[in-house]
Amino acid sequence: MTQYVIHGGKPLSGHVAISGAKNAAVAILPAAVLVEGVCRLENIPNISDVILILDILERMGARVRRVNRSTVELDCSGIRSAAVPEEMARKIRASYYFLGSLLGRFGKAEVAMPGGCDFGFRPIDQHIKGFESLGATVDIVGGNVIADCQSGLVGSHICLDMVSVGATMNIMIAAVLAEGLTVIENAAKEPHIVDLANFLNSMGAAISGAGTDVIKIRGVRRLKGGSYSIIPDQIEAGTYLAAAAATGGCVTVDNVIPRHLACITGKLREMGAEISEGDDSVTVCAAKRLHKTNVKTMPYPGFPTDMQPQITVCLALAAGTGVVTEGVYDNRFRYTAELCRMGADVQVDGKVAVVNGVEKLQGCTVKACDLRAGAALVIAGLAASGTTVVEDVRYIQRGYEDIIPKFRGIGADITAIEVPDGPTAAAAG
Ligand code: EPZ
Repeated sequence: MTQYVIHGGKPLSGHVAISGAKNAAVAILPAAVLVEGVCRLENIPNISDVILILDILERMGARVRRVNRSTVELDCSGIRSAAVPEEMARKIRASYYFLGSLLGRFGKAEVAMPGGCDFGFRPIDQHIKGFESLGATVDIVGGNVIADCQSGLVGSHICLDMVSVGATMNIMIAAVLAEGLTVIENAAKEPHIVDLANFLNSMGAAISGAGTDVIKIRGVRRLKGGSYSIIPDQIEAGTYLAAAAATGGCVTVDNVIPRHLACITGKLREMGAEISEGDDSVTVCAAKRLHKTNVKTMPYPGFPTDMQPQITVCLALAAGTGVVTEGVYDNRFRYTAELCRMGADVQVDGKVAVVNGVEKLQGCTVKACDLRAGAALVIAGLAASGTTVVEDVRYIQRGYEDIIPKFRGIGADITAIEVPDGPTAAAAG
């Protein structure tokens, strides 16, 4: 079992290069099932979620060639089955994107109900609503979603009941080869949705309006192969910027699209951090103690829920009392109990957390409960005095490429150690 051991209390400084976007890659790879011929995908993050999806594609009959650490060539013409191996699909929420691509290609799909981070109830009713509007029947049998439309999908006008990243992308994938025009209203606008649309269009699709709340997909007969490079990861970049702010450091994230980070840098600026932007870089310096602000997470371009735990750590060390409102999920504050063990003062009531800033945090052994919570605990450990041991880092490895060398590259004293399952590193000395 891997744990991270952190000796904190030092301001971070320097440059960190940002990898490709997890939430774009985990949609684009399943969407490649629709493509006839070879897809060459660049800037793919080397993270466990991506590795799992590549394994699923290979198991289903695709030829997967790993050209180098961040480039793969996919040929999905060998896929014959419309069912994703259950035990693999259950490990990752994004396996639901195979519903859209298999339904689009074969007129049928069978995928286990999605897993993923536990933020309370996370239904896929909007995905199902979309597939049914395109003419499919969708049943849930034995924990599997079974979608069927042998007569072929037909374009339709779909208005989502709530803004959903997953439903927007899944319906877009399914509609690419459907007969006629599909319109998605109240669509999500995240950068990775635009990236998926750009990928599909580069393969021959006819999608317009991605990035707005009305997306139009005119069905085409086939998608041909080609090359595509995935956008940088907005949330990975935001995580390093929050770490700079929480440790009182000065860090530049490179290979980023600054406007994708505006909702994050805006909040750090409100807290008193200095922000400067280059063409493809953003720098955050926080020489003085941060001061409080309030945060409400919202769909893009609002403040991203996937940055909520990281900004809460910054607020935990800021002067004054800030209020964090979780506007997307029912239950995304479980990690605050671990933060309070480090000396933070956070009161949670449902979807609201009141964060009374403290002078300092104290290192101790903490446990990650999901991907972004894990990243936030690493930031807390880097800001805290003493030693912090983060357990269950497998969550973090799902979404952060090379997190140890990247943090060490900006001056962090962090190490990954292997310990036998059971006693913590501290006890294991
Ligand atoms: C995606 O999840 C991301 N995951 C999440 O990132 C991210 O938190 C989320 O979008 C919001 O930005 C991936 O891209 C793999 P939603 P998704 O559909 O698609 C409700 C990370 O850390 N809803 O936008 O599941 C839902 O319960 C992960 O990288 C329905 O009720 O999110 C939630 O409250 C964690 N019915 C809200 O909508 C539906 O059919 C937004 O969910 C779909 C969603």
